[in-house]
Amino acid sequence: MPEFQTAPGTRDILFPESGRWRRFVEVFASVVEAAGYGQVIPPMFEDIGVFHRLGEATDVVTKEMYDFEDKGGRHLALRPEQTASVCRAFVQHRPTTPWKSWYAGPNFRYESAQKGRYRQFDQVGIEVLGVEDPYADVEVIALAWRFYEALGLRRVTLLLNSLGEPADRARYVEALRAHFGAHLDALSPESRETLRRNPLRVLDSKRPVDAELVAAAPTIDAFWSEAAAAHFATVQGGLRALGVPFTAALRLVRGLDYYRRTTFEFAGEALDAAQNAVGGGGRYDGLVEDLGGPPTPGIGFALGLDRTLLACDAEGVFAPPGSMVSAFVVDTTGGAEALELTDSLRRNGISAERAFDGRSMKSQMKAADRSGAAVALIVGSDEVVAGTVVLRPLRGGGEQRTVARAAVIDEVRKVIG
Ligand code: HAM
Repeated sequence: MPEFQTAPGTRDILFPESGRWRRFVEVFASVVEAAGYGQVIPPMFEDIGVFHRLGEATDVVTKEMYDFEDKGGRHLALRPEQTASVCRAFVQHRPTTPWKSWYAGPNFRYESAQKGRYRQFDQVGIEVLGVEDPYADVEVIALAWRFYEALGLRRVTLLLNSLGEPADRARYVEALRAHFGAHLDALSPESRETLRRNPLRVLDSKRPVDAELVAAAPTIDAFWSEAAAAHFATVQGGLRALGVPFTAALRLVRGLDYYRRTTFEFAGEALDAAQNAVGGGGRYDGLVEDLGGPPTPGIGFALGLDRTLLACDAEGVFAPPGSMVSAFVVDTTGGAEALELTDSLRRNGISAERAFDGRSMKSQMKAADRSGAAVALIVGSDEVVAGTVVLRPLRGGGEQRTVARAAVIDEVRKVIG
């Protein structure tokens, strides 16, 4: 074992997998930019106070934050998510509303690492600030759905809920406290502890002993104000109008505390149930104010890149890109021929690589094959004298032939299309 390896919960993304990561973000950008969202790139660390607004009773804040003091004595934290950062940026720069932004990048949470759960993980997401309209909720959710469609993912379930207005939610929390409190002995010790800190999160328990009580717990709909119920009805109607299928999940709670009204999660049905949330989001109408800004409604989502790609693997869609280059130059003369030919291919927009270190013809041909290139361009001493190049198609058949050095760019273009 080498002395140094990636820390638990972190990974190297090597190629060609890294090409898939980049394409993921490109596809996402194309979907949301076509809807008028612009990219925001917040810093990866901020004053820890920004993230305290995610909820003092959430694991993300109490247990999982990577926080540290810098040399100037500031208490900073690596961002565990980007919604709070986007809202902080909004308060700091005061752009005009509606402010529709998208982002992509790594986040950090000190979680117990396992497949699909990492300490550094990537998200793509959007946030809309300054819009109350339930049709904004619909737009946001539908954009996530259209993105999954663009990836080719089919086995995704949209779980939809509303946590109501803060007062509705507070009454619901009391009802949950009463429900679980009346059966404390039947609850797991972990859930008893959760109940003390954050009764909503007990609904999230996956422990078999808790299952019965969770299933019998009251649902939020009985606590919705008229306005919250109407908002939610419009959201559902809008999703139906767009043909975005959803399942009402009236016990769905999220891991962060800033949510009000619409909340949702996307479950990858091809993944293990414990780690199948490939994305989630909702409304957070109080967050901007909490961060010192004017009252500003907000809604958005974040999709986990790591997990969504696991779902893609499980469904056999959105494969890593194939070969990186179109042409591979094989040169046994040891001169500058390969150098010049490769350079002129690249300058003419044809991706190309070559072998180094004066390898044998056989070994260079092997490398050409491995590269995934569509053609090998072979230069020997005869070709140098004759001013020609041997063009050998490596994929999809086709005859090897000798072409004039001056015509090689055109000939390669014909082969690679
Ligand atoms: P979240 O549910 O904490 O929400 O994370 C969103 C997604 O990020 C999850 O569904 C999951 O796919 C991925 N994710 C979270 N933690 C991990 C992890 N440790 N390893 C791998 N993937 C992970 C948020 O972060 C909110 N900021 C979403 C939002 C945006 N709400 C409103 N706007």
